[in-house]
Amino acid sequence: MGRTGHEGGGPPGLSRRELLRGAGLAAAAGATLLPAARALAADAPADLRVQGPDAVELTLTVNGAPRTVAAAPRDTLLDVLRLPLDLTGAKKVCDRGTCGACTVLLDGKPVYACSVLALDVAGRSVTTAEGVVGGAGRAVADAFVAKDAMQCGFCTPGMLVACAAAVAEHGPSLTLEQARAATAGNLCRCGTYPHVLEAALAAAKTAKGR
Ligand code: FES
Ligand code: FES
Repeated sequence: MGRTGHEGGGPPGLSRRELLRGAGLAAAAGATLLPAARALAADAPADLRVQGPDAVELTLTVNGAPRTVAAAPRDTLLDVLRLPLDLTGAKKVCDRGTCGACTVLLDGKPVYACSVLALDVAGRSVTTAEGVVGGAGRAVADAFVAKDAMQCGFCTPGMLVACAAAVAEHGPSLTLEQARAATAGNLCRCGTYPHVLEAALAAAKTAKGR
């Protein structure tokens, strides 16, 4: 499997002398850019609101209700859901956008809550696994139980949210390929994939009668 980034002390194929020369050029470029950055700042609108570094209050809609929380610029949506809001359905597993355990709906679309800054969701609508189970996604949750689509459960809330989004989008016409695509960003270390897909398809069929 490939890796991103270089291993070792510097870019492959560069001598130490070349590397140092490059660093010197970068520093010179930085010195040139600094006045440009200052000029940009001087041109900024007078009403520009700078947020942070201290926590800032923001209001968002969570599972249908307005919630106001304080978040620092570095806090993610996952941080504010799990701590101040005590909604622990979204799991912090990788915390870097690779596993899908933190999946929530942002304005109806699945996102990794660990990869969205809290300040960026002010005024927007978030639905967590708790909201999915308590709302339109109840049939998907029931299908997860009926199809035995969980083992340890760490991936389950994220899987559930991703499946509920697919069922909501495609309804009874949801295909296996669409269900696979919808859950492609969700990893399950216990290998429950076939049961998760069965559950999504079963829930989609239930949606047919609505
Ligand atoms: S915890 Fe967010 S993608 Fe893994
Ligand atoms: S049920 Fe254990 S990681 Fe999916």
